Amino acid sequence: MKFLILNGPNLNLLGLREPDIYGRQDYAALCSFIESAAEDAGVEAELFQSNHEGALVDRIQQALGVFDGIVINPAAYTHTSVAILDALKAVQIPAVEVHLSDVSKRESFRQISYAGLACCRTFMGLGFEGYRRAIFYLRDLLKGEESV
Ligand code: DQA
Repeated sequence: MKFLILNGPNLNLLGLREPDIYGRQDYAALCSFIESAAEDAGVEAELFQSNHEGALVDRIQQALGVFDGIVINPAAYTHTSVAILDALKAVQIPAVEVHLSDVSKRESFRQISYAGLACCRTFMGLGFEGYRRAIFYLRDLLKGEESV
């Protein structure tokens, strides 16, 4: 099973960026965490981070026929990007949304998630752990589908 793990804008600045909200660990630490979670789950993971909406859309499109699942933290594009929502809907690859912070308890402009409309589950407010939960959730979901 092969998962694409997408991270959106400014997540490359983890550690430096608003550490009270996003923690003190950097993006490299997040990548190591995700890689070991994928290994524990027995799935292959490819990681991609971009500050550009179109680059994220391109990766979602290119995932067709290559990846079984997508874990996505679209970061700020969560709340603005119909293009990412449409790309997820177009490829129809099972996707799970992750947010490090609990966006439900933050500003009103963070209360809409466009990408979330195309995702089967959201994990938020769990820090790095959200990615682990997303990977295991997606693995179990797809295993269930395989055995039907
Ligand atoms: C975020 C939450 C978003 O609202 C914000 O724009 C981010 C990160 C999170 O992981 O908590 O950049 O997606």
